[in-house]
Amino acid sequence: MRPLQLSMEGFGAFRERTTVDFTGLALFAIAGPTGAGKSTLLDAITFSLFGKVPRLGVQVGELISLGLERAQVSLEFTAAGRRFLVTRTLRRGKGKSGEALLEELGTSTPRTATGVKEVNARLQGVLGLNYEAFTQAVLLPQGEFARFLKSPAAERRAILRELLRLNVYERMREMAQERRAGLTQEVAGLHERLREEHANASPEHLATATARRTQCEKTRTSLLAAVQEQRTQLEQARAQAQLSSMLVQLRDQLARLDAQNSDVEQQAKALAAHHRAVPIQAVMERALAAQAAAQSAGLAHAKARDALDLAQQEHQEAQDVLGAAQRATADVATMDARVRALDELTGLWRVLFDTQQHLEGAQQAVSNARTRLASAQHNHQDHLAAAVDAQAVVVCCEAEVHNTPVPALAAPLLPQLQSTVERATSLHNTLQRAGAALDHARARVTKAQQDHATNASHLAAVTLDRSEKDAALAAAQAQLDKVTQEHAALHLRKTLAAGEACPVCGQDVAAVPKSKRVPALTARQNAVATAITAAEQARHALAQAQAAAAATQSVLEELQRVLDERHADHTAASVALAEATALLEEHLGRTTPAEAARRVQDAVVGHARHQQALTALGQARRMMEMAHASRDATALQVQVAREEDARATLVLTTLETRVAQLQAQLHDAGGTADPQAERARLVLRLGEVRDALARAQERQDTLARTLEQATRTRDETALLRQRAQQEADKAGLEAETAARSTGFPLATLARQALLPEAAALAMASRVEAHRRQREDVAQQLAQLEKRTGPGPAKPLLQLEAALQQAEADLNRAQEDAAAAVQDERLLATRVEQAAALRTRLTVATGALALHETLALDLRSDRFQAFLLQETFAQLLEGASLKLWDLTGRYTFELREEQFFVVDHDHARERRSADTLSGGETFLASLALALELSDHVQRLAGATALDSLFIDEGFGTLDGEALDVAASAVEGLPTGGRMVGIVTHVQALTDRLPARLVVEKSAQGARVHRITGA
Ligand SMILES: Nc1ncnc2c1ncn2[C@@H]1O[C@H](COP(=O)(O)OP(=O)(O)OP(=O)(O)O)[C@@H](O)[C@H]1O
Ligand SMILES: [Mg+2]
Repeated sequence: MRPLQLSMEGFGAFRERTTVDFTGLALFAIAGPTGAGKSTLLDAITFSLFGKVPRLGVQVGELISLGLERAQVSLEFTAAGRRFLVTRTLRRGKGKSGEALLEELGTSTPRTATGVKEVNARLQGVLGLNYEAFTQAVLLPQGEFARFLKSPAAERRAILRELLRLNVYERMREMAQERRAGLTQEVAGLHERLREEHANASPEHLATATARRTQCEKTRTSLLAAVQEQRTQLEQARAQAQLSSMLVQLRDQLARLDAQNSDVEQQAKALAAHHRAVPIQAVMERALAAQAAAQSAGLAHAKARDALDLAQQEHQEAQDVLGAAQRATADVATMDARVRALDELTGLWRVLFDTQQHLEGAQQAVSNARTRLASAQHNHQDHLAAAVDAQAVVVCCEAEVHNTPVPALAAPLLPQLQSTVERATSLHNTLQRAGAALDHARARVTKAQQDHATNASHLAAVTLDRSEKDAALAAAQAQLDKVTQEHAALHLRKTLAAGEACPVCGQDVAAVPKSKRVPALTARQNAVATAITAAEQARHALAQAQAAAAATQSVLEELQRVLDERHADHTAASVALAEATALLEEHLGRTTPAEAARRVQDAVVGHARHQQALTALGQARRMMEMAHASRDATALQVQVAREEDARATLVLTTLETRVAQLQAQLHDAGGTADPQAERARLVLRLGEVRDALARAQERQDTLARTLEQATRTRDETALLRQRAQQEADKAGLEAETAARSTGFPLATLARQALLPEAAALAMASRVEAHRRQREDVAQQLAQLEKRTGPGPAKPLLQLEAALQQAEADLNRAQEDAAAAVQDERLLATRVEQAAALRTRLTVATGALALHETLALDLRSDRFQAFLLQETFAQLLEGASLKLWDLTGRYTFELREEQFFVVDHDHARERRSADTLSGGETFLASLALALELSDHVQRLAGATALDSLFIDEGFGTLDGEALDVAASAVEGLPTGGRMVGIVTHVQALTDRLPARLVVEKSAQGARVHRITGA
């Protein structure tokens, strides 16, 4: 995958539409300040390809820019020589995964995929990488740089498998295994079918089946003719049997009708009696009504007699009651006189009543006063005790104040002393750090001086060497010149041409003289060439030595400057510490900072304690004053309650005396203690006596009137009863006479013969219907008896049984024939199938053997494990070399599938990669990442990694380490790859040939592309 163009809108820091052009970029920095949007840029690439990002997983909704509703990212990229455009859109609050669209560009028939699932599946195929492998080999996210180094072995294996496309072998193995399972089943199935279903599928069996089918068909034809003959016979017999059955039915019916005859005649007689009774019906009903009237008059008379008896009895009782009431009125005069006498005592009684009321009030007042007195005394006791307690607390607090002395150091001085102590402690630490830094700087300067001295002496040697080489060149040149001089004619010969004038004598040259070999000249020429090369090399070495000397000189100057700075820091810290120490000495004498801190802290605590004791004493004194005031107030309340109690007791005694006096006075006057009650009793009794007399008189009058009325009623009913009886006797006589005249001995029998009109009509029609039906049946029977001939030759049942048997035989013969045809056909098919199955079995057995071998060989613990192991060994070797280049100290080693580092500065000691420092871990991860990417790049057949992005600010490195890491990145063989490094370290950014600069602004992030010259 190699990005061509990325567009984002509403995505994290990129609020507005931003397009980044990656075309033509090879090695470049993605630069910009903290929080500018560098990681977001890489997130956009990952999101467009996988729909998720390392820092949020699938919760990508968080990346929609704040305040916007929609985020959209499009990435145009190439992969496996094809060009694609993927676009993903997220909407706020609408699902996690959003929408996705993938288009393949530059093809005549555009191929698109829509929907997140389909796009993800297509992309995985196109990229040849899953998300895990992508984020560990192509785009290394911020904060997860060391993941490959530290991830568990299984995870690493899975990633390598993905990168090396070993999954292809796994898939092949799975397919082989699946196919093998299928084939095993198929072979077993084929064997079973041949054994179970095709055991009899031979041509001999087929011939036997054909013979059997022919025999069955013959039998079926002869049985069919016999069945048809028997069916005709049976039909004839059935017609005869039907006539006989009808005859039997009619005879049965006639017998049933004859059996009903006597009943029908009985009904005809009852009907005749009814018709005789109908004319005298009115006379009989009149007699019945008169009889009923006589009965009810008799009842009314009996009731009137009973009522008269009751009235007489009640009247007698009322008279007795009246007599008793009249006797009771004899004492009325005496009782009236007594009431009047009692009325005269009422005034005195009223005074007694009032006084008793006051007495009750006074008793309540005394009780209240005593309760108040008891409560006041109790309250006073409590306050007395509280006052004593408060006094004791004051004494304790005074003792505490006395026991908490005021510290010698004055309180106002303490804040200044505290801050001075803190400053002195911090300065002490600073001084120690500054000392260490100074030592470190000195050591580096010494090392740089040594390096520079080495370089300077090397420069001197090289300069000398160059002078020597120049001198040697001059000597060789002189030698050459001399020999050339000696053989000038040879030089002249080169300028001669036949027929042209000689430059020396001016005569025409007839023929150019023959050339002559001069070994001395050739040797001199070679010596000069060698001297030139040596001089050139010496010049080059001198230039290099000068550059190296200049470099170490500038490093030395820089380190000297750093050393001066550290020196200044150290001096400043010493001066400040001396000032602080002097101030502390002034107040505390000569002492260490720790002791000074302790003493100042003690003084602070002492002052605080003394102040606390004083505050507590003040509070205790205030509490004691309050307790004394409360004690005095409650004493006063006790005094007041006592006086109230005395006053109430006096009033009570006076009232009790007065009541006793009044009661004695009333007793003397009326012989009763309560004249009012006695009067009330007498008045009640008088009322009762008078009321009883009036009620008895009234009841006696009422009952006399009732008695008179009852006597009258009894006489009237006696008369009415007599008249009704006479009427009834007369009507009864008339009814008996009428009955006899119509042939009934008694009127009762004539009444019984009467039928309801509807019943009489129904009975008449039943009698008529019976007679008609019997006649019809008799007629039909006579006709049928004439038609019926003699019975069938064979009984019907026998014929039917014979036909059934014949039909069953025919059915069986037909079934046998069908089965024989079926068997023959089936066997013919089976014979063909068995041949085909045998051919299939041969093919399947061969394929099974092949797939068994394949499934076994491709197992992950064989071929794949071998590939992985090989790759891992190569990867480790390459990464080790890179780590050595980066650190000059460590190489990698793998033990029990964990990364270890070999520390060459410490006797090649091995330790876990987890023990590396932050910066060292970064360099180790960088070495691994670069090698992983390089390695996969080199492998044919593995996933093509066309780009590498590292989002790891390089911020953990110091200047020196950064320099080495930057050189490694700079010298990275991109091999056609795109390599993007995210950093906000300017020194690194400046060294890379191109950069994408991400900037913050009010409208969101923006990206500028800067390409170096
Ligand atoms: N949904 C969002 N809407 C707006 N801004 C966001 C959203 N999510 C994150 N940001 C902000 O976008 C900015 C860019 O974040 P990013 O992680 O890309 O920064 P960076 O350039 O990688 O910084 P660093 O150098 O610290 O790693 C940050 O200020 C971050 O808080
Ligand atoms: Mg970042």
